[in-house]
Amino acid sequence: MEFFLDTASLEQIKRYQALGLVDGVTTNPALLAKEGRDPLGQLREIASIVTGPVSAEVVTTDPERMIRDARKLAGVAENIVVKIPASTAGLAAAHQLQKQEVPLIITLNFHASQTVPFVKLGVDYVAVFIGRTEDFGIDNKQLAWDTRLAIDNMQSRTQLMAASIRNPDYLINAISANVDVITVPPECWEKVYKNPIFELAEREFLESWQQLPEDLRRAYEALDDSISPQS
Ligand code: E4P
Repeated sequence: MEFFLDTASLEQIKRYQALGLVDGVTTNPALLAKEGRDPLGQLREIASIVTGPVSAEVVTTDPERMIRDARKLAGVAENIVVKIPASTAGLAAAHQLQKQEVPLIITLNFHASQTVPFVKLGVDYVAVFIGRTEDFGIDNKQLAWDTRLAIDNMQSRTQLMAASIRNPDYLINAISANVDVITVPPECWEKVYKNPIFELAEREFLESWQQLPEDLRRAYEALDDSISPQS
């Protein structure tokens, strides 16, 4: 299972690369806009520091324009994968782009049925949005499971990507559903380690440690040259 970082921030990509959590990067128009810089330049820079796939989304609903733009975006760097929306316009474009071997991620899937024609076509990835529906009070956790089953039953080469991972619960849901890739925003990784129960427990352990007299703590804290590190 691969973990992509869901961001267009170079700073965050470098930070999470050091933590081993960047097998690829997903961007979308909103994420690129958030950076407030020239989006093409930003994309080139991201693609130059990431060895895995980097996604770039089309910004049109017209299929002919999608085809033209997707081919151009794929030319920006070797590791660019183009995001096309899961609509009938997107399907028309995907048919042409698939023949031209443009790598594709089909995005904005909110029901497994949306992915079916693209899975049949054998595109590289379908991205299912587990979160975002929570804005409307809808629990969408079944989505990754349903799509996994659809892909497997259809015996397709398409990889399943879990997107819109807004909290640690969605992250575990995606892993349980055995997706191929999860794209996780830095904000979700922050939430994983901002667990107040963990923070309280860690603080309690360290405070309890301080109850031990200093002379008894000294050797354990110093771990001086009398102890050799594991070789
Ligand atoms: C990634 O491919 C998607 O664009 C992203 O996960 C969307 O996340 P959001 O629904 O939280 O904006």
